[in-house]
Amino acid sequence: MDLIVPRDSSPNALAERHWLMRGSPVIAVDSVTKRYDGLTVLNSISLAVHEGQVAVLIGASGGGKSTLLKCINMLEPPESGKIYVEGADITAKRADLRQLRARLGIVFQDYNLFPHMTVLGNLTLAPIRVSRLSKDEARTRAEEELRRVGLEGKINAWPSQLSGGQRQRVAIARALAMRPTALLLDEITSALDPESVADVLSVVRELAAQGATMLIVTHHMGFAREVADRVMFIDGGSILEEGTPTEVFDESKEERTRNFLRRVRFA
Ligand SMILES: Nc1ncnc2c1ncn2[C@@H]1O[C@H](COP(=O)(O)OP(=O)(O)OP(=O)(O)O)[C@@H](O)[C@H]1O
Ligand SMILES: [Mg+2]
Repeated sequence: MDLIVPRDSSPNALAERHWLMRGSPVIAVDSVTKRYDGLTVLNSISLAVHEGQVAVLIGASGGGKSTLLKCINMLEPPESGKIYVEGADITAKRADLRQLRARLGIVFQDYNLFPHMTVLGNLTLAPIRVSRLSKDEARTRAEEELRRVGLEGKINAWPSQLSGGQRQRVAIARALAMRPTALLLDEITSALDPESVADVLSVVRELAAQGATMLIVTHHMGFAREVADRVMFIDGGSILEEGTPTEVFDESKEERTRNFLRRVRFA
């Protein structure tokens, strides 16, 4: 995927790029704390996602997984800590949020598409407005991404004419149309029927096979096991345990991880 080079060429930005060239993570979360009304949701959490890595975040409901993804995108600014996207500090006061956000494709559980626009409109809006593509270039890219998610025939459809699974696949295509460096996926299958879940998961599986960098929140443990390079268990607002799927699912060191896994297996 294309790398968008920061326009800022100040000594700091250059130093950050140098750091990037040494193999720094695509996403680095460093001691981030986030509170809502006195409730500490993220408690000095740190994690890294490297290029081509599929990191899966698991943990109990209300544990802060969505909040973390929103912080990474600065939809929710953290109280303290730093977040780097390709080495650039997205939490810095002078950060170019528009450009930095464009590097992260984010798909949520629901309400992803603009209902008043066709699929084509949804897919071309940001590439035209933010990446300054011409209408034709944006259309070509939209067609390409729709093919990738198996929905090339739906380019002129309205979101209301699509099934839930198709809507989510369009949402993934829309994120990909920005040629992001990483994808953040937050329980994108949880509102879907089993057949649509399978369709959406197979798109994600395909992206993983193509080397996309992803941070995925999911309750599908079987899928997590299959697709993840790293699994991270969030508990008490920080990462309690992380490792390969085998390490976390079969050989977890923490009692709290084992309890959580037992609960979800029997859910
Ligand atoms: N905008 C908000 N204002 C106040 N509290 C919030 C807000 N967003 C989230 N919270 C609280 O932060 C905590 C973490 O929520 P979050 O949505 O990040 O959890 P989650 O791990 O994604 O859960 P789930 O698995 O159910 O999606 C919850 O206690 C929630 O009530
Ligand atoms: Mg959530």
